[in-house]
Amino acid sequence: NKPLQIALDGPAGAGKSTIAKTLAKKLGYVYIDTGAIYRAVTYRALQDGVGLEDGPMLAEMIDKMDLRLVPSENGQRVYDGTEEVTDVIRTSEVTNNVSFVARQPEVRAALMDLQRDLASKGGIVMDGRDIGTHVLPGADLKVFMTATVEERARRRHEENVSKGLPSDLEQLQLEIALRDKRDSEREVAPLRQADDAHYLDTTELSIDGVVEAIEHLMKQVI
Ligand code: C5P
Repeated sequence: NKPLQIALDGPAGAGKSTIAKTLAKKLGYVYIDTGAIYRAVTYRALQDGVGLEDGPMLAEMIDKMDLRLVPSENGQRVYDGTEEVTDVIRTSEVTNNVSFVARQPEVRAALMDLQRDLASKGGIVMDGRDIGTHVLPGADLKVFMTATVEERARRRHEENVSKGLPSDLEQLQLEIALRDKRDSEREVAPLRQADDAHYLDTTELSIDGVVEAIEHLMKQVI
């Protein structure tokens, strides 16, 4: 079987990374989390005091970074040069600022080649917001995954609680809704379902149920 390019887009907390990870493992594919790239750039900008809406300066900063996504047993590790940033890019400070950085056209342009290179050989499941519409318009299979904002906040809340992290359900819901709004309303490559993407509402589905649904869609393209 030809190694496919699978594009998985959707709003925050729809379960894309869980599904992409599970599916990749099952297929022997590589999971590529593109949100981590925008997060790593945001983290660096916060560290270095670069303006989060200063596109040209951010692009210059990205040029000097050595961003690497390394597939690992439980997903993906993220490095900037020799520094591992896998965990520090998940703080709420980064989460609540990343949409400002991600809406700068210079930033998106600077990160395009990296993402396409990572996907070029196929055998990948790539998750993000604009994979089906911009990064991999020719992907073999495109899925737009979503769930109600209440359900997405509830899942994130459960995840936090299970990790022993502080978590406030109502605040999570507000933050998720706000991030979706920023990601959907930006001018460049907004969060949007590609015309040829399959729409998958996961509100009522289990993880296995979603993975099965995508495997079923795969059979139609092989
Ligand atoms: O997927 P995750 O929630 O980690 O993504 C973090 C942020 O990165 C998103 O809210 C969005 O602003 C940005 N992003 C993007 N395009 C992608 C992936 C993520 O703009 N392909």
